[in-house]
Amino acid sequence: MKNTSKNKNPIDFSPASGSEAIQARRGHLGFLFFFGNSPDLAKIEAERVAARLLPFLKYDSMITRQVAWFKSTELEKREKRDKGDKREEELKTKLNVLSNVQNVLGGTVKIAEIIGSVRSLNYLENELMQNLSQTSKHKINLAISNYSSGKVYVKSTLINLKNRLKTKNISCRFVLAKEADILSTAEIFHNKLDIWPNVEFNIVPMDGEFLIARTISVQNLNDWSKRDFGIPAPDAQSGMLPPKLARMMLNLRNRETIYDPFCGNGRVLLEAAYLGLDFIGSDIDQVKVESTKKNLRWLRDQYQLKITNEEIEKRIFVADAKTWNIESGILNIDTTFDIRHSRFQIVTEPDLGPALHYLPRISQAETIASNLLDLYFKSINNLITKTTSGVFVIPAWKTQEGHIIRLSDKILDKLNDSRYHLNKLGEYARPNSFIIREIYQINN
Ligand SMILES: C[S@@+](CC[C@H](N)C(=O)[O-])C[C@H]1O[C@@H](n2cnc3c(N)ncnc32)[C@H](O)[C@@H]1O
Repeated sequence: MKNTSKNKNPIDFSPASGSEAIQARRGHLGFLFFFGNSPDLAKIEAERVAARLLPFLKYDSMITRQVAWFKSTELEKREKRDKGDKREEELKTKLNVLSNVQNVLGGTVKIAEIIGSVRSLNYLENELMQNLSQTSKHKINLAISNYSSGKVYVKSTLINLKNRLKTKNISCRFVLAKEADILSTAEIFHNKLDIWPNVEFNIVPMDGEFLIARTISVQNLNDWSKRDFGIPAPDAQSGMLPPKLARMMLNLRNRETIYDPFCGNGRVLLEAAYLGLDFIGSDIDQVKVESTKKNLRWLRDQYQLKITNEEIEKRIFVADAKTWNIESGILNIDTTFDIRHSRFQIVTEPDLGPALHYLPRISQAETIASNLLDLYFKSINNLITKTTSGVFVIPAWKTQEGHIIRLSDKILDKLNDSRYHLNKLGEYARPNSFIIREIYQINN
């Protein structure tokens, strides 16, 4: 897989005069992960990815519904032994690893390194100035995002900092949020505020104090929208799974070979291929199978992935998930993969029912859910075996009466007392959509 992370200058670690207090706390306090629209799912995703890729970090707690605190574990212990340069060197490497991990995550919009804290916002400007005086560059973009309910006079603080920096020959352009006091991902991304020496300071309340964290990475919006809107074979009718949700689902995996038995236009498989995972896909509809193949070839060319046309042909095939049983093995020796002995992770969004143009009544949503029950029930029975594990989208519908009708309730009733374990990991709903996607882990 080609690494698409931006080429960044390393963060400046030169010790700053007069900021020992902040320096001493670096590495103790760890990092903040800021989540997007599905914070519950994003939190599980970040925890699992951290466990897999960031052994030096451990999830500690949620500070707000959308901000999680990850503490540096190993660093704290080691710090007692290693001093000075060695520790700074290690931190530098770890910051680079972290900003690469940003590219892996679908639900984390940005990551920030905690650089200190203040008891009162009166001390904020001085603390920020101390941190800024570490920079030796002559031009920077500067911004502040305030997540606390405490009043931060963002604009006047930025003006003061700008004037103080001028006396040090540093010219600064400040960036103000269009709405409220928190910059959007787009504002951070387009102003390159995550790239040294530019700065976004995040002010986050904690235990009566205010943490100060400096953004080290942000979601690469261009790359996400390229895969969201740039694919050659989109599905205009039924819409597609958002790529960030597909990515979050993939990051919840327990196994490294991904199978999507309802591949549609291939959203899950594209994200799997992007992550460099092994993948297989099928759909009952030949047209969809061809769309997935076309989209995969496009992805391969865009990102210079090492997947051949033959592999794509072999791995994507027509199959009915209601009757196709993994344990039966090769479906068609010419076109399919022998998957009998592999250990799989199924990541899939099965049929969501008819596209809705208005909020359904309870009775309509009940009918849609009942019509889908058999498909979900039989697919789970066929595909979740001792060697497979599943992450499924299961739809739920908002209704005119204000109730939510959940297909998962019906599946749970029907699977009652069976050998399957269904565990809800979170949900995803676009604002104003009539459908909620519940994300379930299913094991046998
Ligand atoms: C909601 S779409 C999947 C969308 C896909 N995740 C994407 O983003 O491109 C559901 C897909 O399930 C397929 N499907 C419906 N019934 C099926 C069955 N019995 N076996 C396999 N695929 C089926 C449909 O053809 C459709 O492509």
